[in-house]
Formats: sequence, C-alpha cells, structure tokens
Amino acid sequence: MTSNELRKKYIEFFVKKGHKQISGASLIPENDPTVLFTTAGMHPLVPYLMGAQEHPMGRRLTDYQKCIRTGDIDSVGDPHHLTFFEMLGNWSLGDYFKKEMIAYSYEFLTKELGIDPSKLSVTVFEGDSEVERDNEAAAAWESNGIPKERIFFMSREDNWWGPAGSTGPCGPDSEMFIDTGRPKCSDDCKPGCSCGKYFEIWNDVFMQYNKTADGKFEKLSRPCIDTGMGIERTVAILSGKKSVYEIDTFTTIIKKINELSGKTYGEDEKTDISIRIIADHVRTSVFILGDQNGIAPSNIGQGYILRRLIRRAVRHAKKIGIENVCFLNEIANVVIELYKEPYPELEQNKDFVFKNLEEEGNKFLETLVKGEKEFEKLLPNLLKGNSKTIPGRIAFKLYDTYEFPLELTVELARENGLSVDENGFNEAFKKHQETSRTATAGVFKGGLMDHSEKTTALHTATHLLHAALAKVLKTSVKQLGSNITAERLRFDFNHDAPLTPDELKQVEDMVNEQIKRDLPVTIDVMTLEKAKQSGAIADFEAKYGEEVKVYTIGDFSKEVCGGPHVTHLGDMGHFKIVKEQSSSRGVRRIKAILE
Ligand code: SER
Repeated sequence: MTSNELRKKYIEFFVKKGHKQISGASLIPENDPTVLFTTAGMHPLVPYLMGAQEHPMGRRLTDYQKCIRTGDIDSVGDPHHLTFFEMLGNWSLGDYFKKEMIAYSYEFLTKELGIDPSKLSVTVFEGDSEVERDNEAAAAWESNGIPKERIFFMSREDNWWGPAGSTGPCGPDSEMFIDTGRPKCSDDCKPGCSCGKYFEIWNDVFMQYNKTADGKFEKLSRPCIDTGMGIERTVAILSGKKSVYEIDTFTTIIKKINELSGKTYGEDEKTDISIRIIADHVRTSVFILGDQNGIAPSNIGQGYILRRLIRRAVRHAKKIGIENVCFLNEIANVVIELYKEPYPELEQNKDFVFKNLEEEGNKFLETLVKGEKEFEKLLPNLLKGNSKTIPGRIAFKLYDTYEFPLELTVELARENGLSVDENGFNEAFKKHQETSRTATAGVFKGGLMDHSEKTTALHTATHLLHAALAKVLKTSVKQLGSNITAERLRFDFNHDAPLTPDELKQVEDMVNEQIKRDLPVTIDVMTLEKAKQSGAIADFEAKYGEEVKVYTIGDFSKEVCGGPHVTHLGDMGHFKIVKEQSSSRGVRRIKAILE
C-alpha cells in the first residue's frame, strides 16, 4: 500500500457514499489567530460544524488535508513522531450520524482495506458526571461485528474531542486500533497503551454537544460527524512496517539522505535519529514554504517554527557528514517530486522553497561560526578558573543565543582540556522550555476558533481593501496572502512600487465611504467557473466544478471566499491603514485596523 493508493481509496469510498470531495485548505490558517498551523482536516470547517452557515458543497464532504502539529517537535527523531502529516477526513454536517458512520468505518477498514476484523479493537467514551456513557457507539460497533471484549470504554482524557478548556462544538469520539500481534506489555495493556501493541489508525468524532461559557454541555440540535485518518500511520501498518519512516514516501526521501551522507539508514541508531530528523524537518519545511500562503523563515510565529526546523536539519546533516547546505534543496526536490500531484502548489512555489532553504541554511552556518568565535572569546576566562568545568548556564547561553548545540560546546571544551556541566545545561534548558511552553500554550492548543465580531469585520474590510486597491491603482490586484488577528488585518498583494501617501489616502477614504453607505453583504453559491465569469475575484484554485461561495458587497466588491462576513457594513467602524511596506520583491504588505 502506498500513500497515493490510500488517499485515492478513501476519497473514492466516501464519494461513492454520497460525499463531495473538497479541496484541502492552506497550512496557514487565514482568519484564525488561535492556531499557527492547520492541525486537522476539521479545522477549516469549524464554521460549518457550528451550524453557523451551510457549506456550498452540501452536508457530506470528504478531503485530504495537510496538517502540522508542533507539540511533540522535540520527540521527532524516534521512529514514530512526525511534525507534518496528511489527514484523510469525511464530514456529516447535520446529515447522517453515529450509526451510519460506524458502519462506514467498519466497511472501509474490513472491505476496502482488507483488514482482518479479528485484529480490530475500538474505544468509546465511558461517560462521566457531565456527559453520558456512549452506549450508542458501542452498540453500533457490536452490531457490525466487533465483539464486546474488543470494545473498550475509556475516559474523557482518551475519548473526547473538542476545544481544550474553551467553548464550542465537541463530543465523544471512537478510535480504531489494529492489534499488531505483539504480546501484551502488562495485564492492563489495551488500546491507547503506549507499548506499541495497539496501533491507532482512525478517529470518529461525534460532535453532539456545545460547551457553553459556563461549562455546561448542551446537546446540539444538529449533531455532526468529523473523522480523521493519518495517511502515514495507516500506510505503515497496512504495509507491515513498524515505523512511519519506512513507508513509500519516506523510503524515497531517506534514500536521498543515504546518498548525500554516505551512511545507510538502519545500521546505527544515532545516525538513524539524525536521518529521521532531517527527513521529517525538510519535508515539513517544504510544505510550509511551498504552501499557497507560503511563509519565509523569521523570528515569530510560523516563520520561527520553520527556522528551527531548517536549522535542526542542518545541524543533524553536519552530524552525519553532510557539510554543504545544498543538501536541503536536493532533498526538497525529492519531496516536491513525491507530492506535487496531490499538492500542485509545491511545484508552483518551487523557486520560493529553494531560495529560502538555501538562504536560511547559509545563515545558520554563519551562526555556527559566530558561536565558535564566541566560545573562543570565553575561553581565556574559563581556563583561568580552577574548576575546569564550563557552567551549564554558559553552555545554555551559547545554545539559546547562537543555537550553538551542546555537543559542539562539549567537543570544543574537550579539545581545550575542559568539560561541561551537562546537568546544569539540562536544568537551564528545562526551565526555559517550561517558560516557553506556557507562553505558547495558547497558540499550540489547536481547536476551535472564536469567530468574534471583530475578526469577521476585519475579514470584510479585507475585501473592501482589495477592491479599493484595484480601483485606485487601476490594475488587477492579486492577493498573495492574508492574515487576520483580533486586532488587525494584513494583506499581501502584487505591486512593484510603494504606494504614495496620496494613493493610501484614496484607498482609505474609498473604504470608509462604502462603510458609510452601509452596503449590504450577500452570498451566492455557484461553480468556480461561473463565479469567475461573473467577475468575482478568485485568487485561489479549486477543483473543476467545485461549488464556491461568492460574497458581494453592494456594487463595490465581489469575491470568492469561505466567509464569514458581516451582513452589512454600517457597524464596522472606521478603517485605517497603519502600515504599508514591502514584503518581498514585487509584493506589498498592508496592515490596517478598524477603530
Ligand atoms: N478532529 C479529529 C482529529 O483530529 C478527527 O478529525 O483526530
């Protein structure tokens, strides 16, 4: 089984069951400040799951979605963790529910994938003081042929999906596991146990509650289904591999790393760790850079994660004997070839990917040289002391400020007859990690966003800005990126000169004039081709024939968009451009607020 085969089988199965295939979304959420990356297939569908609006493609949907989860980034290197993965999913937006979904799951796993039913185990929610036990899901599994002994009731920690600690749609889930046949690690060993006997492949979420601000679980009038199957994991188990790094795609990537390093994967555990880190991190970096909303390395947000991924890949490449940073592009090329069919944006953005990998790789090499210099500066003082041990906090400072790895500090110390207080380093490292975890907990949490009125209004303001720019600059303005937080909008577009103060004022005035006119915002649903014919701006591609929503703002703007938007402009407030700058060559960036 290959990744391509599984992706195809899944989509075909659900299309046969009356689902429409939709395009997966960008990895960079456009209008959701609560997460850095798209973490699940359901993420872009939140407004529809909440029942706030109808999806233009109907109530049965399926897709494959690029996902990044960075919570376990430090565990990458072992045979199981990945930062990027593909998720297959299907949704019922108030159409079928638990019984039908469980029957679909059973049919797909046993008939389409040919999994021996006696190897399947499932978990369901055991219930607690707030929400009842999910006997309905258990009964549905039983009627499909899973015996009671292989249906496990588990706690909220294991079998609940929804926004951690916040409000919104949520519900019990049911996870499906394949028994690898290995012996139980203890009497308590059951699905969910970390020993590896049971391998999770699919998760059916039954969104049937809304968690209110005062912590109550209200039954939703329109329950929904959200499911997710990780491609890499599932391909691994179906092709009898112990690790995701042994599936078709990774085998090809790792072959290239073997070639570049002259090492062979599978011969030495330490080398294997580095090879897995390089394979994972370069693959993820290619998907971030090659995304339809591609991001460059920087010191904040997604750009910072990208920077860390690239740097860590370079460091591990050095470890296994790859000295030239050109290796980044050689591996990137393999990744693009592997994935360009399901993700054509990778091929389209190839130049941006290569340019940034090379620049960042070289920048990091400079950093390493600087770190060495810094070490030499510290050396005389270190040699003067009696202790012959470099304090942990100094090793940590080199690491934190110059990304100078501990191993290198140890190596340099040894050459000078010194040692490093590694325990002290680890303590400083842990302390730092805890602080940064707390600081980033909010953005990494994932889950459902709060469509506050403010973000909705800023989203509508983005459409107004886009139309006003085209009118003032008298050219077609192509949107190259958009990002909205609760405070401001950010809009990137093609234009090769800075806007003059006069142009900026005209744009601002024009937007405010429309707000004053209190224009109505209306929605129509049509195919992308029709939308383009009607003159709507459509700065993204969708599948041929795919139905999209077109938002029209009076006589001023018409644009294909997922929404949501305000219903009329009158209450939006005053529009103000706070910054106009260059974002990269030929690209201008505007930041604006509503006050
Ligand atoms: N949202 C669920 C998950 O991420 C199912 O797609 O597992």
